[in-house]
Amino acid sequence: MQSFTLFSISLVIVLATSYSDAFTINDFPEDFLFGAATSAYQWEGAAEEDGRTPSVWDTFSHSDDKGNGDIACDGYHKYKEDVKLMAEMGLEAFRFSISWTRLIPNGRGLVNPKGLNFYKDLIKELRSHGIEPHVTLHHFDFPQALEDEYGGWINRKIIEDFTAFADVCFREFGDDVKLWTTIDEANIFAIGAYSQGIVAPGHCSTPECSTGNSSTEPYIVGHNLLLAHASASKLYRLKYKNKQRGSIGLSLYALGLSPYTNSKEDEIATERAKDFFHGWMLKPLVFGDYPEEMKRIVGLRLPVFSEEESEEVKGSSDYVGIIHYATVYVTNSRPTPSLLPSFYTDMGIDTIYIGNSSFDTSVSTPWGFENFLEYMKQSYNNPPIYVLENGLRMKHKSTLQDSERVEYIEAYIGAMLNAIKNGSDTRGYFLWSMIDLFELVGGYEKSFGLYFVNFSDPGLKRSPKLSASWYTGFLNGTIDVVTQEITQLQRNLSASSSL
Ligand SMILES: *[C@@H]1O[C@H](CO)[C@@H](O)[C@H](O)[C@H]1NC(C)=O
Ligand SMILES: *[C@@H]1O[C@H](CO)[C@@H](O)[C@H](O)[C@H]1NC(C)=O
Ligand SMILES: *[C@@H]1O[C@H](CO)[C@@H](O)[C@H](O)[C@H]1NC(C)=O
Ligand SMILES: *[C@@H]1O[C@H](CO)[C@@H](O)[C@H](O)[C@H]1NC(C)=O
Ligand SMILES: *[C@@H]1O[C@H](CO)[C@@H](O)[C@H](O)[C@H]1NC(C)=O
Ligand SMILES: *[C@@H]1O[C@H](CO)[C@@H](O)[C@H](O)[C@H]1NC(C)=O
Repeated sequence: MQSFTLFSISLVIVLATSYSDAFTINDFPEDFLFGAATSAYQWEGAAEEDGRTPSVWDTFSHSDDKGNGDIACDGYHKYKEDVKLMAEMGLEAFRFSISWTRLIPNGRGLVNPKGLNFYKDLIKELRSHGIEPHVTLHHFDFPQALEDEYGGWINRKIIEDFTAFADVCFREFGDDVKLWTTIDEANIFAIGAYSQGIVAPGHCSTPECSTGNSSTEPYIVGHNLLLAHASASKLYRLKYKNKQRGSIGLSLYALGLSPYTNSKEDEIATERAKDFFHGWMLKPLVFGDYPEEMKRIVGLRLPVFSEEESEEVKGSSDYVGIIHYATVYVTNSRPTPSLLPSFYTDMGIDTIYIGNSSFDTSVSTPWGFENFLEYMKQSYNNPPIYVLENGLRMKHKSTLQDSERVEYIEAYIGAMLNAIKNGSDTRGYFLWSMIDLFELVGGYEKSFGLYFVNFSDPGLKRSPKLSASWYTGFLNGTIDVVTQEITQLQRNLSASSSL
């Protein structure tokens, strides 16, 4: 899931700055984890198999013809093949998510033994190849049954059901899983699904959505997500942590935000945007309450933490999961008060994309990534961070020679190294995505994979892209990140494969 178009008023073209200092994987701390990621609905397929029931994503993706995850990469059947590819690449960690409705088909209650076995087998397969599993519990695909029964995330009842689902996961998988992310991209899930209505379950106030309220629901959902995360975290710490010794965190979509000009107005607008986008989740997690500016603007539509809830949310994340792709410039656009406020009208900014707004050959802005990590360090007491997603979207069928992707990744890893050298407590980095997937925004047209998947081939054949070879070399320490290497690798690969 990624890359939301906010609203772009114009294009600014900046030359890509290539990373100048050479580095290798050996410049990173010894226990730093390099991996790659997928998510259940986007990778597994087998949507109706072995007792799995629909999630809101099954419903949502079947409401149009932009593709769905019925088959996806068929990871459910091909996980051994994929773990082998991961091992060959030298991945140290693999991030995936658990399909709530595969494990607990009704959303609560009985556990599905076949679902349980699938995740046990996958985790065992990873461990036997020396790959550390990083498990996300909620990656956008919650049970349709709970949406139908009580409105899903807009109802506090989901906190109890989510916690019970987490309990099953900790109990069944926790001996082998040391890294847990409760909720993926909590901020963009609340915005995308409940203010814009562009992801499942597709709630908004405008006629495109059959239900919803963009003025209130994103804030109610944001609140419930924080409480559900805190509740699962509390359970983990009380019941499992001593024995299992893992960590648990929440993840955020970390859009880089930078003032367009050095005017006071743009600076203030950028601070406001940071409060809305990041502070919304981070201030409660680190300090126990929402940002003042948000409380002032959103007023009574923003739920209030009781003292007890505030204590429970504060400190509930052992680390912060960061999903980062891009940086935008921010200008002030204090809007005329809107009759139908939404998350974005409340935030009141305009954004200007840097580079190619199509994102497909997006000009990379690694400095925005470095700044974000620096901001986490300075504004939020330098929490441990896992970068859970980063990568470049390209047209799916473009080429195996994804040299733009390689350049993007090199620059971003370099930027992360700069931040670490300056004190950021960043502990891991996962490329999105291990292989081409069903993308939640964009279906099968665009992809991020290190491996190409031929979705027209009944066998869903996987083929390594240049980026997979590059990552292999980087992970085994034979690649020094300097330009000549990429060029050479590119020549080597074009000699051996093509689409
Ligand atoms: C959204 O909720 C608010 C507060 O309850 C209400 O005033 C408003 O009319 C609702 N808007 C829509 C479009 O339903
Ligand atoms: C944006 O990307 C498209 C697709 O790769 C390319 O054709 C176009 O020239 C780019 N535009 C700019 C302004 O760089
Ligand atoms: C490095 O960290 C120091 C101390 O937090 C900070 O003042 C400085 O701006 C940082 N440098 C960069 C390049 O971010
Ligand atoms: C994908 O598979 C189909 C069917 O096997 C084949 O005809 C096609 O050439 C393949 N495409 C690519 C890009 O490999
Ligand atoms: C390291 O990766 C490179 C690039 O893929 C490969 O050519 C080389 O054989 C690998 N070396 C080891 C020791 O695995
Ligand atoms: C490319 O191939 C040449 C010759 O086989 C080899 O010496 C070189 O190490 C390879 N470069 C990379 C980056 O894999």
